[in-house]
Amino acid sequence: MTTANQRTHGINLGALQREDKTAPAHELETCIKIENLDLYYSGKQALHGINMEMARKKVTAYIGPSGCGKSTLLRCINRMNDLVDGVTIKGKILLENEDIYDKSVKVADLRRRVGMVFQKPNPFPKSIYENVAYGLRIQGVNDRQLLDEVVEKSLRGAALWDEVKHRLNDNALGMSGGQQQRLVIARAIAIEPEVILLDEPASALDPISTLKIEELINELKDKYTIIIVTHNMQQAARVSDFTAFMYMGELIEFGETSELFTNPTKKQTEDYITGRYG
Ligand SMILES: Nc1ncnc2c1ncn2[C@@H]1O[C@H](COP(=O)(O)OP(=O)(O)OP(=O)(O)O)[C@@H](O)[C@H]1O
Ligand SMILES: [Mg+2]
Repeated sequence: MTTANQRTHGINLGALQREDKTAPAHELETCIKIENLDLYYSGKQALHGINMEMARKKVTAYIGPSGCGKSTLLRCINRMNDLVDGVTIKGKILLENEDIYDKSVKVADLRRRVGMVFQKPNPFPKSIYENVAYGLRIQGVNDRQLLDEVVEKSLRGAALWDEVKHRLNDNALGMSGGQQQRLVIARAIAIEPEVILLDEPASALDPISTLKIEELINELKDKYTIIIVTHNMQQAARVSDFTAFMYMGELIEFGETSELFTNPTKKQTEDYITGRYG
């Protein structure tokens, strides 16, 4: 018989909370719980029985070789895979105890709560201001003062305000790649999501822009639960509290980042983090 602790790959958030008395209690409560998740693309299985719990207001990194299912798993959390023809999903994903695949869930509401940022920055061909205001505009908000406030707050939150405050009406496509990625993050936080999913957000960026994104992730985790897919193990080690190692559609090992990188319990994890394959 498996215990609850084994099923969640050894992370007992309750126990961590009790051990680390300096952490505010709410920080180690479960935000997202994945239960027995299987995913098939046109009958071909891409995720196998995934079970994991992710802590609220912490950063969880998904690592593993190309094709192991990191993006697939990430996209399940805001139901982006619903858009792919021929997908079958079994199991549950609970966001704050509610199953996001339940029939009663409106996908648009879910995506407001769970924002996503992709590998390649994808600003709209609009002004910097309108990119950030977009989420509120589509909710019908047109109050200029409110929009101004949210745009400024979100750009500050994305560590971009000082660079763009004098050019808010310029087209976002004229920004550098690193600025565009921070703009997309500002657009995501403007609607105050609970969770931010980042799929290799810095892999198309230069080292300085990458550092800025990593610093930003560190600041954002005060407010948001963050899940980041990365190929870069140093990046996972720098930015995340917990790391999940995946291989061929399975979750092999999941634990505190410092533990997983220094003391992996599975041979496959050790081989990957020591660069023996990948
Ligand atoms: N839209 C799709 N249709 C069919 N198969 C897909 C689709 N997206 C992904 N797959 C398959 O599912 C498996 C997992 O892919 P996924 O993109 O999740 O991997 P990944 O770990 O994110 O890889 P990478 O590091 O290269 O981004 C792969 O075998 C891939 O070919
Ligand atoms: Mg991917």
